[in-house]
Amino acid sequence: MRNLTVNGERLWASLMELARIGATEKGGVCRLAASDLDAAARQLFIRWCEEAGCTVTVDRIGNIFARRKGRDPALPPIMSGSHLDTQPTGGKFDGAYGVMAALEVVRSLNDMGYETEAPLEIVAWTNEEGSRFSPAMVGSGAFAGVFALDDALATPDNVTRVTLGAELDRIGFAGEAPVGEHPVSAYFEAHIEQGPILEAAGLPIGIVTGAQGQRWYEITVIGQEAHAGPTPMPRRRDALVGAARMIDAVNRIGHAHAPYACATVGFVQVSPNSRNTIPGRVFLTVDFRHPDNDVLTAMDHELRAACAEAAATQSLEVEVKEFWYFPPTPFDLRLVDAVREAAAAQNYPHQDIVSGAGHDAVYVARVAPTAMIFVPCVGGISHNEIEDAKPDDLTAGCNVLLNAMLECADRPADGPAG
Ligand code: GLV
Ligand code: MN
Ligand code: MN
Repeated sequence: MRNLTVNGERLWASLMELARIGATEKGGVCRLAASDLDAAARQLFIRWCEEAGCTVTVDRIGNIFARRKGRDPALPPIMSGSHLDTQPTGGKFDGAYGVMAALEVVRSLNDMGYETEAPLEIVAWTNEEGSRFSPAMVGSGAFAGVFALDDALATPDNVTRVTLGAELDRIGFAGEAPVGEHPVSAYFEAHIEQGPILEAAGLPIGIVTGAQGQRWYEITVIGQEAHAGPTPMPRRRDALVGAARMIDAVNRIGHAHAPYACATVGFVQVSPNSRNTIPGRVFLTVDFRHPDNDVLTAMDHELRAACAEAAATQSLEVEVKEFWYFPPTPFDLRLVDAVREAAAAQNYPHQDIVSGAGHDAVYVARVAPTAMIFVPCVGGISHNEIEDAKPDDLTAGCNVLLNAMLECADRPADGPAG
């Protein structure tokens, strides 16, 4: 295992410059997928990749690939990246770190005049967050064949219903390249942990062995609109009261499967949302996560039972629709080992960790050997404008990424050195 290092100051400077696109007053970033700000970030990223000598292509779902030639152009690339879109109240590092770290690997290899055997590719996946257009990981999911291209392009904005495809067209990022049909030798994604484990353990590096499974639901509760004054309490069919009981049940289910379960209601629409009309309809989303698929299934049964009971006691109708699911995803043992060995070679203290968040790596893992590298974030906070990370930790993660990528780029899996 080699022991090369990147330019951590340049990595930090690039992250800070990128974070100016969509910067919020509280120090975070709002750069929703396929918005004008997303387009500006994409253009900056492409400029930097071209300046680093890469050839850039954009596929029809807007995924951007920047290729650095290798000695053997016939070898599928060693790929690394993440996403440039953010949550509405997002931070500077979620996604951006993985893209900038991959770019920094290429820039550092250029500085060293280092030519790899296999080509390298930096990737920025479209709509990882799933905040504006749900579900999440749509670009990587289309790449991996999980979503048909037409369905992915038809994904509506959660509020305006404009489609992802129309917005990609509008911002000039509905590219020409086919989606998928793009062999990859290995995929690495560097990311902030987005949770508290590494910081609490005082470790700069997490060796990500896999990601927990997720189930997302869309729940519609139907009652009856009625006047808030003359309608006696026993006669009401208040959809919001039913929804409130369901939301409480979601939280209880999360606690009941401690310590690993996570259960969140993050999006609620009340109709007609008028102060003096009893709500007739509520739409809400549920996000369940667990590393064990059986527990995720048990949580599913409990959710359905709780919603049925809440609806029955309030004389409501309820529809519980499973909207999105992926099972717990183990990463590739050889690549996970390459990450572990790169961390050890650099003398970085590290531990194995399971990702609590969803990542593009989860879908790429279906079509290519995949692994991830985590670095701590301050207070374990992410999806928040105060999200922060230490420059030394970001540099450490990027050094690990560089050496793990080289391990694969110079020793293709089917090559003599394996
Ligand atoms: C992605 O940000 C997720 O929700 O895990
Ligand atoms: Mn992310
Ligand atoms: Mn995120």
